[in-house]
Amino acid sequence: MDSAQNAAQTDEDSSTADRRIPDSLEGDPEAIALGKRIFHTYCWGCHGRNGTGAQCPDFSDDKQLHGSRYEDLVKVVTNGVKGSPMGPWGYALGRKRLLQVVAYVFSLKGTREARQK
Ligand code: HEC
Repeated sequence: MDSAQNAAQTDEDSSTADRRIPDSLEGDPEAIALGKRIFHTYCWGCHGRNGTGAQCPDFSDDKQLHGSRYEDLVKVVTNGVKGSPMGPWGYALGRKRLLQVVAYVFSLKGTREARQK
């Protein structure tokens, strides 16, 4: 009889070889820097250079439509938003780059007041 397969903790990880990927890269300066580049490659077109894209939620204010915790952003970027242009990025980016880009987006939170819009 097969013993319980050590199925990956999360299904999303099955496409990724690197098992050392952490659960969260929140606040990690290196991840934020790398995430910024990823953002400028994939997300900028819709979300704008500083995450304040006209047609999209503004990341720099405190109002998040899909939850404001780091984990909430990981979820929405992984799965996308059905019925909106926001696609699921889980497979395209892979877990690690996804955590990095979310670390960047998360770092923008609350910066709006500082910029006076
Ligand atoms: C094709 C345009 C498009 C692209 C490309 C895109 N997004 Fe989005 N994104 C949207 C739209 C539109 C929404 C709002 C969805 C809704 O109606 O809730 C959204 C929502 C989000 C949210 C949730 C915001 C909130 O208020 O909860 C996050 C986080 C996000 N996007 C991150 C990203 C990241 C990171 C990337 C790049 C990997 C990306 N998006 C690429 C269009 C886009």
